[in-house]
Amino acid sequence: MTNASTKPFKIGNHVMDNRVVLAPMAGICNSAFRLTVKEFGAGLVYAEMISDKGIVQKNEKTLSMLYIDERENPLSLQIFGGEKETLVEAAKYVDQHTSADIIDINMGCPVNKIIKCEAGARMLLDPNKIYEMVAAVVDNVKKPVSVKMRTGWDEEHLYMVENAQAIERAGGSAVAVHGRTRVQMYEGHANWDLIRQVKEAVNIPVIGNGDVNSPQDAKRMLDETGVDAVMIGRAALGDPWMIYRTVEYLESGLLKPEPTVQEKMDICLLHFDRLVALKGENIAVREMRKHASWYLKGIRGNGTARNKINQTESAQELRDYLRYFAEESSKEYEEVKSIVI
Ligand SMILES: Cc1cc2nc3c(=O)[nH]c(=O)nc-3n(C[C@H](O)[C@H](O)[C@H](O)COP(=O)(O)O)c2cc1C
Repeated sequence: MTNASTKPFKIGNHVMDNRVVLAPMAGICNSAFRLTVKEFGAGLVYAEMISDKGIVQKNEKTLSMLYIDERENPLSLQIFGGEKETLVEAAKYVDQHTSADIIDINMGCPVNKIIKCEAGARMLLDPNKIYEMVAAVVDNVKKPVSVKMRTGWDEEHLYMVENAQAIERAGGSAVAVHGRTRVQMYEGHANWDLIRQVKEAVNIPVIGNGDVNSPQDAKRMLDETGVDAVMIGRAALGDPWMIYRTVEYLESGLLKPEPTVQEKMDICLLHFDRLVALKGENIAVREMRKHASWYLKGIRGNGTARNKINQTESAQELRDYLRYFAEESSKEYEEVKSIVI
């Protein structure tokens, strides 16, 4: 293993313990999930994107999304917006009223609802606007400011180098690059070579993102692009071990074993309990359905389990079922093992 894989990296004055970062994911990266992933060793966690207007208008639900457990830090809190005034006001609020360590601006979200507001990936077409937005936020907050962006709008408009340089000139402290264009949405492959081009063009830390699906992918991205850290999104869904196994692999070159069904269900239950504490039973039971199906991925009998979980209405019912499923699966595993051995 090269030292380059394990070297800590810095954003502003914040030193991260390692180079493995949890990606921001809307509807997923709330405190319950982030803390769980953090405990699996993530060097930095990103919160889900939060609307600048929701913050400025003090929308109750939006403000509740700003909750951070102190065990999560270092944490980057991402805001989105297409107008300078509200973006700055929201950033000031995050700066003064939250324990986030870094304020991140979303310049990658590809969905129409966000693009129509001139926010998210819309900004990728205009390096001057990126400069203005980042400079205005940097001038008004104390916390370091970063941007998460895509490589460009489409194959004909790949302005990632100009955009990253604009972020750096404007005083941005880091940039995360998802190696897809807006038009690609989540299809095709992330182009890591374009991420490498950004890394070579700026002096601020660059976090590479897109299609890191295994610890080996993480190492390959660090080696091939020279980025300061790797950001993992979908591969961590229902699988915080992906973070732990990646940190371990980058440190020692050893691949830790995959978790057992019992371990998966234990963490699923812990995640669920945190979600109940954060959002209350009704919302947690509904939100946990998608998470549970990710935790169950690849486990025998998961189809039936998913159906059962989707019909579950109370927290106790869900807990009981997850415990029952773990027990049954473990029994089955022991039986198979005794036959094979
Ligand atoms: C369900 C979901 C929600 C996402 N929400 C956000 C978000 O709030 N902010 C953001 O910058 N990117 C968001 N992304 C993009 C991810 O952060 C990441 O860039 C993308 O999934 C590619 O990385 P991966 O291949 O490791 O998943 C989201 C992705 C998914 C799948």
